[in-house]
Amino acid sequence: MYAAIKSIGSYVPNEKRNNQWFVDRMDTSDDWITKRTGISTRRIANKDEQTSDMGVQASKIAIQRAGLTIDDIDLIICATISPDYYCMPSTACIIGQKLGTKDVMAMDISAACTGFVYALSIAKAFIESNMKKNILIIGAEKLSSIVDYTDRTTCMLFGDGAGASIISATNDKNEAIIDIQCSSDGNLKDLLLTPNILNGEKQFIQMKGNETFKIAVKTLVRDVQDIMKKNSMKNTDIDLFIPHQANYRILKVVGDALKFEEKQKIITVQKYGNTSSASIPMAMNDAYENNKLKYGDTILLDAFGGGLTWGSAIFRFAGKNINDNK
Ligand code: UT7
Repeated sequence: MYAAIKSIGSYVPNEKRNNQWFVDRMDTSDDWITKRTGISTRRIANKDEQTSDMGVQASKIAIQRAGLTIDDIDLIICATISPDYYCMPSTACIIGQKLGTKDVMAMDISAACTGFVYALSIAKAFIESNMKKNILIIGAEKLSSIVDYTDRTTCMLFGDGAGASIISATNDKNEAIIDIQCSSDGNLKDLLLTPNILNGEKQFIQMKGNETFKIAVKTLVRDVQDIMKKNSMKNTDIDLFIPHQANYRILKVVGDALKFEEKQKIITVQKYGNTSSASIPMAMNDAYENNKLKYGDTILLDAFGGGLTWGSAIFRFAGKNINDNK
């Protein structure tokens, strides 16, 4: 039995927050933000909109595009660092409740910006071990709730949103996820963290941006080189390279180092900012809705985030094309 990615869907909140919003509130400029990050806007959830609500919207699209109903789903995995509740219940449980699943296993995972790739690898393992058939994986974040809007070095980077995908069992090897590799190094935990709330510290994201930047570039490049070598693949075997969207400069340096052509790279950071675990599925959905991500295409994902965690995945997209799925 193989695991196949049968669909992608996403949800972005209505509010577009442009760079002027930050210029009006702190010592920064549109020019600095644009040049150093490539970000022009990010989407911000409204007060009553929870991470689970965004996850539910993305999930409904993913389930419908996979040609399934909610009763077909036998596992829900939600990757998030901005869950509705601290510790419990999991956001996956709430998404299941809001979708109307019955007696379905549901859990959150915490792997920061690598969360979607981690979720994908867990889904693959559950399917290949014949334990589950149709798994809903979600990356959903309301990062605006854990961003310190007095810290000009981080606050302009992050946005809200969600992406979701259905991973199903198949006998067709051509549709299978080819490989996933995930790693971590807790020695570098202090580079990117939210403080210890048990000690009464504030919940806001703190990042040593410049150090993180340099490690991100090296790690993302090395991870892609490893997985490509392991699978005897070269750049020309990849139709789309979809990296975690943290900073345009990171994407540019990594894309150039790996020698991908412009048409192979999916870049959405300019309009959504960094949405952590949601960034890769949101970028995948953008490519899908623009008819760039098609059935049979070979896709390379590459993620990096707090923990530190990192991971990459190579798969053939096994969903219907957007034009056949309207
Ligand atoms: O998603 C997980 C992975 N995330 C990442 O990998 C993100 C990694 N980091 C970054 O994206 C970048 O490091 C930042 C965008 C956060 C910062 O860019 P940078 O080029 O690394 O800038 P820097 O931290 O080295 O700061 C350069 C200067 C400093 O001033 P001085 O010391 O040179 O006088 C900062 O104080 O820019 C200043 N600065 C700002 N100036 C205007 C920092 N933030 C701002 C700001 N507006 N918002």
